[in-house]
Amino acid sequence: MRPITNNSTAALPLPTERQTPDMTTDSSVHTTADRQHASGTLGAALAVAFCAIPLVAAIGGIAYSLPDTPKAQRAAAEKAAQAAKQAQTAQAVLQPAAYSVPDARAIPDSKMGEWIQRGEAIFLRTPENAKGFSGNSLNCVNCHLDAGRLKNAAPMWGAYPLYPAYRKKTDHVDTFAERVRGCFMYSMNGKAPDDGHDILVAVEAYAYWMAQKAPLGEKLPGAGFQKLSQAEVAPTFEAGQKVYAAKCALCHGDSGQGQKKDGVTVFPALWGKDSYNWGAGMHEIDKAASFIKSNMPYGLHNDLSDQEAWEVATFINSFERPQDPRFNGDIARTREVFHNSPNSLYGVEVNGRLLGKGV
Ligand code: HEC
Ligand code: HEC
Repeated sequence: MRPITNNSTAALPLPTERQTPDMTTDSSVHTTADRQHASGTLGAALAVAFCAIPLVAAIGGIAYSLPDTPKAQRAAAEKAAQAAKQAQTAQAVLQPAAYSVPDARAIPDSKMGEWIQRGEAIFLRTPENAKGFSGNSLNCVNCHLDAGRLKNAAPMWGAYPLYPAYRKKTDHVDTFAERVRGCFMYSMNGKAPDDGHDILVAVEAYAYWMAQKAPLGEKLPGAGFQKLSQAEVAPTFEAGQKVYAAKCALCHGDSGQGQKKDGVTVFPALWGKDSYNWGAGMHEIDKAASFIKSNMPYGLHNDLSDQEAWEVATFINSFERPQDPRFNGDIARTREVFHNSPNSLYGVEVNGRLLGKGV
């Protein structure tokens, strides 16, 4: 069948704890390496998924007829839609298999399938497959783990059905493609492909394919990042430094530079010129802490306490990284406009160094 696409982390030990099929999907824990060993449970999960479709379709019908109904009927329809929504949520919880993520090998052998594969390839090896649009050596999969499948690592099946959506960051209604453009600009420190560009179409095809059986407009368990409780003690650089030295430096390097093997990123950079820039979501301490808590150290799951996650997120975001592309010529003013939040250290002095100069 289709060739297994390169995955920069395929050689790494697999995070065994994630292989416990819990909430969302059993296939969400498959990495490229274990795609070869797809289990029978997937077949069973899919069978359940198929049984659930007619019900979802019927429910969808109620909501879908809303725009044309007169006022009185509309209230009733809205009520029904609300009940349907609750039913869907309940279903998502009770029958997780209904929204199981398709296995990578299930990408169809068709023209559409070619585009989905192309999107997957961009996702796994971004610099090579999105030439000219990446400004660092990160791959989408470095943050959206397991090829965009892993829950609590902003999986694509969780994101796709939630757009278009209003976002404060941009103060307008963002489409899915705009979110992808944003990650190119900030997380990849690169250049956003224009609307309609093949690269966006391919990534969108990939995310759509993954999300096909997910309910529209529903935030599924595991979508986005897991929210953490507030830090009990204000996180400090020094506390974060200790966590970093003990639990992160081994892979990400003493200077956050990451590690490459034969020119391919094995452990991504966390700060410095090869990392995400000052405009990226990951530079915000709350987002980084959430990501780290669920996903790092790689292979362990929820290993750090919330407090440690806050501390180490503060530490890694206390170093220079590439400039925010929205920089308006003045660090203080750029902070005021784009980073006026306790979760950003842009424009803040840490250990006598003013952050936000860029590298
Ligand atoms: C350095 C880590 C990082 C990399 C690399 C990265 N992203 Fe993201 N991405 C994030 C973070 C963090 C968010 C959440 C941002 C926010 O809420 O502000 C996000 C959000 C998204 C979303 C919206 C998710 C949601 O649940 O709403 C999409 C879609 C997305 N990224 C796609 C991509 C694609 C495609 C690539 C590769 C071209 C990529 N990302 C690379 C960190 C990253
Ligand atoms: C065993 C090696 C290992 C350890 C230890 C480890 N990481 Fe990672 N980290 C990785 C790998 C591999 C990825 C990319 C995952 C992928 O591509 O599937 C990653 C990705 C990341 C990312 C997102 C990508 C980026 O470059 O911004 C952050 C942030 C991160 N790690 C932070 C940490 C922190 C903080 C710790 C310590 C608590 C830590 N990691 C410990 C291997 C490790």
